[in-house]
Amino acid sequence: MNKTSILFTALTATQFACSDPAEETVEDLDPRIDKHSYSIPTEAVCTHLDLDLDVNFNNQVLTGTAHWSIETNGAADSIIFDINDLNITGITNGNEEKLKYRLGDHDPVMGQALVVYIAPNTEKVSIAYTTPPSAKALQWTKPEQTLGKIHPFLYTQSQAILARTWIPCQDSPGIRFTYNAQVTTPEGLMALMSATNPTAPNAENSYAFEMNQPVPAYLMALTVGDVVFEPIGERTGVYAEPGMIEKAAYEFANMDSMLVAAEALYGPYAWERYDLIVLPPSFPFGGMENPRLTFATPTIIAGDRSLTSLVAHELAHSWSGNLVTNATWDDFWLNEGFTVYFERRIMEALYGESYMAMLAELGYQDLEADVHQLTEMDQRADTKLKLNLEGRDPDDGMTDIAYEKGAYFLSMLEEKVGRERFDAFIKQYFEENAFKTMTTEKFITYLDSNLIYADSTKMVQTNYKEWIYEPGIPANCPKFNSDRFSKVNSTLIAWSDGTFEVDEINTDDWSTHEWLHFIRQISDTVPVARIAEFDQAFGLSTSGNSEILAAWFESTIPIGYETINAPLENFLTSVGRRKFLTPLYKALIEADPSGERARAIYAKARPGYHSVAVQSIDVITDWKE
Ligand code: BES
Ligand code: ZN
Repeated sequence: MNKTSILFTALTATQFACSDPAEETVEDLDPRIDKHSYSIPTEAVCTHLDLDLDVNFNNQVLTGTAHWSIETNGAADSIIFDINDLNITGITNGNEEKLKYRLGDHDPVMGQALVVYIAPNTEKVSIAYTTPPSAKALQWTKPEQTLGKIHPFLYTQSQAILARTWIPCQDSPGIRFTYNAQVTTPEGLMALMSATNPTAPNAENSYAFEMNQPVPAYLMALTVGDVVFEPIGERTGVYAEPGMIEKAAYEFANMDSMLVAAEALYGPYAWERYDLIVLPPSFPFGGMENPRLTFATPTIIAGDRSLTSLVAHELAHSWSGNLVTNATWDDFWLNEGFTVYFERRIMEALYGESYMAMLAELGYQDLEADVHQLTEMDQRADTKLKLNLEGRDPDDGMTDIAYEKGAYFLSMLEEKVGRERFDAFIKQYFEENAFKTMTTEKFITYLDSNLIYADSTKMVQTNYKEWIYEPGIPANCPKFNSDRFSKVNSTLIAWSDGTFEVDEINTDDWSTHEWLHFIRQISDTVPVARIAEFDQAFGLSTSGNSEILAAWFESTIPIGYETINAPLENFLTSVGRRKFLTPLYKALIEADPSGERARAIYAKARPGYHSVAVQSIDVITDWKE
């Protein structure tokens, strides 16, 4: 029985609006296209938000009212919002009249449906609420966890489905709305959002924001802290704690050139300004593409601008993701795969092909590792680009498949049709689908009519759908052979087999990427003494570059190299970036399967991690509260 017929038997005929139900797809039959939201936008949908928020660090509570403008199909007697652990204190319509509401069952991942009963012509729904200190999107950072150590810091992380833990909203990437907000903060702490932003604190401790381009809920973002602003170019700048601002401005000096390069590739930047804020080290991601204000981890500040491809990545999301948005989290590769491809094109424009090839090769290594790991874990279906995350946490889809297999898929298409045609196609795709949502199937239709069948000579022979609907890495996956890495390989072999002593290794012209390539390949059979010698020569255990440090720890934990113990513990208790934590805790568990060592470190570190990191590391370390 196919999926459609299963639905047939489950639904009564009266539920079909169309004349010939057999023609319909499952998506058409089920009004909830996005299985991770309770909302039914075809009945009643939010179009604009006026948000009032008060930020209280003493009790770690946001007190707010979300004034929603809504549109209904004229027949709806309710509108459904998503909430997760919000405390709803009252709901009214635009005329201050109380509205009745009901809460659905609580699901640990999805939260609850908030069903608000409305008259057919209702245009406004105002929801008053508070957040609990445990609200999952919110990180109430203690002063000790900041650089300045004096003021606390608050930041949000809404993607994928955590917006509903701080704002009652229709939390689906397919639902867009404009917003205004008014946020009051403690004395001297500036609020910033994914919107028009202040550049200095004000005396009233009250900040007004506007976002006039419609955005989905996962791009709602707020930070409050002791930060200052430094412009980079006309349209770009950085925010950071005062003690970090100079370093940050140096590190991100190329932001403006990135913006210019991105526009030259795929058309005008749609969000007016592009600023970036450096968050405290507990931030669970490298970066988050909140419109107008990228959130970034301080771990990309290496002092030599070598980790700025992350900025290119978040900037690229201003097109792929923020303009053309994945309709559901099953289509996540449309956001991330396009963005990694675009990120590499920006880096190539700025630093040349050989630099880009290193990024692509490291990415391929990540892809192979993820395919291998997911296969081992019996999750090979998760190595398809199009996912099925129904009934699961969308966070499960955040693997290198979406990122790297997605990017390599686009590189494969580029290889087939040539760069010129492919660029024209991508540019047109962004232009024609700006501020719209995209499903994988809609993309396939678009690709077929604008590229594949528009070029009958080459592409037709490419069975590209294998990339999307089949697991693993297809045989026609392109290769980026980096000359710079080939040289590193020779050095590595010579050092590993003893041909080279440490003082014969010439690393003078190595960038961070060559180092990463070298360190990643160090075999766990290399004797500890040789590792120690190498470390003495190159100071890796004390590297100020977080990527190098994390890779070094990952390669030397299995070897039992004890010199790393103190810096490793220091790293794990001060940095909360999940991409670093996951492999390190896994390596610790593998080295000591009792889990004692990993849990002893985690016990100290856990209170400082954001909930999304905690969720992952709890599983890895088998943590019981
Ligand atoms: N949008 C993602 C982060 C994200 C994805 C958060 C899914 C929550 C759910 C962001 O653009 C991203 O991909 N960040 C990467 C950086 C990158 C250079 C690949 C990260 O944080 O590592
Ligand atoms: Zn991304």
